[in-house]
Amino acid sequence: MTNPIPLGVLGYPAGHILSPVLHNKAAEVLGLNYHYLAYEVHPDFLEEAVRGAQAMGFRGLTITIPHKVAVAKLMDELSEDARLMGAVNTIVFEEDGNLVGHNTDGIGWLRFLEETTGEHPRGKKCLVLGAGGAARAIAVKIAQCGAAHLDIRNRTYDKALELAQFVEKSVPSSKVNGGGLDDLYSVADGCEIIVNTTSLGMWGDAERMATTPIPENAIPEDCICSDAVYIPPDTEFLKAARRAGSQIVRGTGWLVYQAAAAWKMWTGVDMPTDIVMEVLNQSLELRLGGES
Ligand code: ATR
Repeated sequence: MTNPIPLGVLGYPAGHILSPVLHNKAAEVLGLNYHYLAYEVHPDFLEEAVRGAQAMGFRGLTITIPHKVAVAKLMDELSEDARLMGAVNTIVFEEDGNLVGHNTDGIGWLRFLEETTGEHPRGKKCLVLGAGGAARAIAVKIAQCGAAHLDIRNRTYDKALELAQFVEKSVPSSKVNGGGLDDLYSVADGCEIIVNTTSLGMWGDAERMATTPIPENAIPEDCICSDAVYIPPDTEFLKAARRAGSQIVRGTGWLVYQAAAAWKMWTGVDMPTDIVMEVLNQSLELRLGGES
């Protein structure tokens, strides 16, 4: 058998990254000769790492925290999503030597939302909690989808305001408000989609894991609640949303579907998302059980 075609993810730090589990499972199930590894790359060496991967015959790379914005400058071409989001999470090394930067964070989220709920942000009142990198991708995607209104709320008020302006500039037809976390009851009133992109609810710190980004009684009934946090898969926010009568969209699905979109670009083949989701859940159980 010939050597596998290399794929990988660049991040800093990289010890916690789960995407090798997803892509290597897809390769195994499909009988494709790819191998995917995580590489810890200091920001000072990002360009060397990308050029090195190209020189070594990589088909593609996933780019994660903190490199998503910086890597965009190294690309020969950007997809529309990567351009509008100002960030790249997937590189395709084309055969002609071109480096093409994509961003699958928004489309992965949207596809999983549609598959889980049958709904779409078009015409809906939406609320994004948080204003970091994940918020940027989701907020741009919601705006592109033609939401009736988008609110971005964040602990640091100025970051929410900046992101709201960024989204309105990227998607000129959109209407976006930015603000703090103080009046979430009125902001969430009548919302049809709420997305948490803050780290609240995430495993690793007991107090953080027990916290929801929005009070339970501020979550409207019949709303769709989506979480970017995937460890644990059932966060306090999603548990509260379920009790409030909302539909829930887990972060695990988002993680798998953004990976599936990248996988398809590299290999031309659909990722078997059901099997990959199973292996992700097993890995998360091990992590939660083993260290909590
Ligand atoms: P990512 O790229 O994954 O979105 P990030 O850029 O570090 O990560 O963003 C983390 C988000 O979680 C931010 O919106 C952060 O709020 P600040 O901009 O005020 O830092 C939010 N966040 C983190 N801890 C929080 C907390 N204890 N309460 C409220 N929001 C919090």
